[in-house]
Amino acid sequence: MLINNETIIKDPNPIIREKSEPVSLPLSAEDEKLLRDLFQYVKDSTDEEKAKEFDLRPAVGISAIQVGVKKQLTAVIVDDRDKNDAPEHYEFMLVNPKIVSSSVQKAYLSSGEGCLSVVQDHEGYVVRSARVTVKAFDLLQNKNITIRARGYLAIVLQHELDHFKGTLFYDYIDPKHPNKEVPGALVI
Ligand code: CO
Repeated sequence: MLINNETIIKDPNPIIREKSEPVSLPLSAEDEKLLRDLFQYVKDSTDEEKAKEFDLRPAVGISAIQVGVKKQLTAVIVDDRDKNDAPEHYEFMLVNPKIVSSSVQKAYLSSGEGCLSVVQDHEGYVVRSARVTVKAFDLLQNKNITIRARGYLAIVLQHELDHFKGTLFYDYIDPKHPNKEVPGALVI
């Protein structure tokens, strides 16, 4: 599938609000191809030359609904730092990911969030859980995995999994107080 800035479904196209269904395992050839294409999009999107040549908006994740397919498939590539400030690189091709636990502590990005499917600017804090545990089948490792994510990775995973419910990041922004600080929250 050709995935670029033109083919990605954009809000307010109602498809972006539809729910995605779990996918049967082992993956069909079609589902596997789609997940690999999503992953390739994220990978290429941060390569300046490829992004320019193929009209890719830089992204850390993309879910199948964003190309109009209602399946619980998402690709994520995140560079972050661990607790000791050492660089960490995360790559996932997730099938049927589920959040199995979330921290009480909240977290948000000080710059707010963006989305390939949202063209309009929506300023404000998107308050999420600071840590989540996600269970999924990962095509990259070809096995069931448990991800214990914190900070930025946790936020990206929550953003992508929200796409399965038709939820967009700005749904969480408090319209009256978009930049209200949250006591005890991790600010990233
Ligand atoms: Co998004």
